[in-house]
Amino acid sequence: MPRGVNSSHIVSVPDLRPLARRRLPKVVFDYLDGGADGEVTLRENCRAFEDVTFRPRGAVSVPTCDLRTRVLDFDLALPVLLAPVGYSRLMYPEGEIAAARCAGQAGTVYILSTISGHRLEDVKAASTGPVWFQLYLMGGRAAAEGSIARAKQAGFSALVVTIDTAVAGMRERDSRNGMKELMGGGILRKLPFLGQFLSRPAWLVRFLLDGGVPHLPNVVLPGQGPMPMTDVGAALASSTVTWNDLRWIRELWSGPLIIKGVMTGEDARRAVDEGASAVVVSNHGGRQLDSVPASIQVLPEVVAAVNGQIEVLMDGGVRRGSDVIKALCLGARAVLVGRAYAYGLAAGGPAGVTRAIGMLRTEMERTLKLLGCSSVSALDRSYVNVHANRLAREIESVQA
Ligand SMILES: Cc1cc2nc3c(=O)[nH]c(=O)nc-3n(C[C@H](O)[C@H](O)[C@H](O)COP(=O)(O)O)c2cc1C
Repeated sequence: MPRGVNSSHIVSVPDLRPLARRRLPKVVFDYLDGGADGEVTLRENCRAFEDVTFRPRGAVSVPTCDLRTRVLDFDLALPVLLAPVGYSRLMYPEGEIAAARCAGQAGTVYILSTISGHRLEDVKAASTGPVWFQLYLMGGRAAAEGSIARAKQAGFSALVVTIDTAVAGMRERDSRNGMKELMGGGILRKLPFLGQFLSRPAWLVRFLLDGGVPHLPNVVLPGQGPMPMTDVGAALASSTVTWNDLRWIRELWSGPLIIKGVMTGEDARRAVDEGASAVVVSNHGGRQLDSVPASIQVLPEVVAAVNGQIEVLMDGGVRRGSDVIKALCLGARAVLVGRAYAYGLAAGGPAGVTRAIGMLRTEMERTLKLLGCSSVSALDRSYVNVHANRLAREIESVQA
């Protein structure tokens, strides 16, 4: 009898991963779980958090602790935002709508990917909290202009431009599994997947009832309609965003603009100069350029480079509340989580997303209490030691 997301055996986010694996066909699980090339960065994102250890204050009573924070002008109940995860509808039919609703209930932001199976208007309507739109230029400038106008009209409160996707990363698992055929091919090309689909009957029934995910309703090609799911990789490659594009995007979007995918102090400075309100230190969860450092390793360089002029968020490898606290100690205003909630979504739909957020929240509270710190706003560098030579050198060089 498979265990559910609320079973007492599920005690932390990593427990949701095997549950997701049991619920999803292999091709879909690997799409969610996998990274680029040798998956060095994917592994490093999680491992590098081990290089940061805590310096607790003992004999301090912390009866309650405050996780509330302010990101840009948004008051959030906790310093964790839900990252854009393309094709969430493949993991669970309600996909993006369910995740947005859960984020709103938890008092935080949901960031909708351009590669969404649900209309952006429906996703916005599902959440009681702020929803941000993550923009890819796939489909060309006219399509992007249309999405920006719709996002504005629908009440999205910030625009996130992802800059690390000059081409789609080489996700070897997807290539071996035939992810492109699954997403793009006709019914005959899906036949090889029959075995793995039949071994996941609950997923299959939901997927069929949902009618598959044939189009991208938020990428409307002028004169043609919504872009078919085919060849998202090629569409990304032919629509690289450049710093010059930020100028016309800025003209269309007067609200907060966030640059996601910053991995150097230089790019962070450039984002400041281009009028960004925040940057996200991110390597796309290890799915783009492999062998870039873990995000937590780059965070100090970026924090130093922006010098308090704009806010710094980070994502990559966050699986525990203690990871969130470490990132805040090293200068992040908040973190984004991708797989942490997507494993939950795959494992149990909205209940799984809520469970993932709930476990992170409980872990953050416990970590703060054990640290002797009553509020996330009081965290700073004095609460951590940084051990790995590489990370220590990184920090020393920006502090010198
Ligand atoms: C399945 C999957 C799909 C993703 N799709 C997008 C996307 O459409 N746009 C984007 O900017 N980032 C995308 N990302 C990257 C996430 O927004 C985020 O940067 C990353 O997941 C953080 O790493 P984590 O999964 O270890 O938390 C995706 C990540 C995953 C796992």
